[in-house]
Amino acid sequence: MSAKLIKGTEIREEILEEITSEVAKIKEEHGVVPGLVTILVGENPASISYVTLKIKTAHRVGFTEIQDTQPIDIPEADLLALIEKYNNDDTINGILVQLPLPDHIDEKKILNTIDPDKDVDGFHPVNVGRLMIGGNEVKFPPCTPFGIQEMIVRAGVETSGAEVVVVGRSNIVGKPIANMMLQKGDGANSTVTIVHTRTKNMEEHCKRADILIVAAGVPNLVKPEWIKPGACVIDVGVNRVGEKPSAKDPNRMVAVLRGDVDFDAAKEIAGYITPVPGGVGPMTITMLMLNTLKALKYKLGIM
Ligand code: GUN
Repeated sequence: MSAKLIKGTEIREEILEEITSEVAKIKEEHGVVPGLVTILVGENPASISYVTLKIKTAHRVGFTEIQDTQPIDIPEADLLALIEKYNNDDTINGILVQLPLPDHIDEKKILNTIDPDKDVDGFHPVNVGRLMIGGNEVKFPPCTPFGIQEMIVRAGVETSGAEVVVVGRSNIVGKPIANMMLQKGDGANSTVTIVHTRTKNMEEHCKRADILIVAAGVPNLVKPEWIKPGACVIDVGVNRVGEKPSAKDPNRMVAVLRGDVDFDAAKEIAGYITPVPGGVGPMTITMLMLNTLKALKYKLGIM
C-alpha cells in the first residue's frame, strides 16, 4: 500500500483563501482588519526568515502588519514596555515575540506580559490553562498543534475513539496536541498516550496507534515496523542532516531536511502520511493567521 500524502502546502492555500475572504467580509461589515505585530530581537538569521514569512503572509491575507525589530542588547524593561504599548494599542489584535530571546532576557517574563487576549502564539499560561479546560474556554491553541489537528480533520481521518500516540512531550507540540486530541468535540475524542525519552517500550505503544504524531527531533526515529498498517502518521520533525546545492541556484547551498519518521519505508505501510518538508511546517504560520483573525472576532463579539 502507498499512503495518501497530507500536504501542508495545499491545506495552507485552502485556509489562507478562507481567511482572506473572511477578512474582506469583516472589513466591509465592521470597517476593521486584523492587526498583527511581530517583535524580533537581534539578527538571528533563522528568526529573521520566520518573521519575514509571517509578515508577508499577514499582508497577503489583508491584515495590517508591523515588524518591530529591536537591537540584541535591548534592556528587558524596554522590551516589557514595548509589549505593554502593543497591549494597549487598539489596532493590534495579535502580538508575537519571536523566540529564542537573548540570554539577558527572561523569556517567561516576556511571554507572561503579553495580553492573553492578544497571545496568538498561545504560549501564555492563561491560554495553556484554557486549552487544558477545553470546549468554549479555548481561545488560541498553539499554532503547530492547531495545524496538526486541522490537517488530520481535513484529510478526513476519524479521530473519535482513535488511539493517538504522541512521541515527545514538549510544551509547544507534544503536551498541547495530546491535550487537544483527548478533549470532547469534533476532531478529538481520542484515546491518547504520550511517549518520551524515558518510556520503556516506545515501539510497542507506537504499533497501537491509529494516529501517530511524532515530535521528537530525532531523524528517522520511527521505523516502518513501528507503524500500524493504515495508520495516519504526522511527522513534526525538521532535522537538518546535511547540505546540497539549491535547485534554483547551484552556487548556493541549502539544508537537506529529514523528519522523525523513515518516510520512504513508512509510506508503504501508513494510510496517511505528512512529508518533510511540505507537511506540518507550512501549517504553523497559517494557524498564526487564523488565531489573529480569531482575536479580532472575539473582540468584535462575532466568534
Ligand atoms: N520560534 C520558533 N518557532 C516559534 C513560534 O512558533 N513562535 C514564536 N514566538 N517563536 C518561535
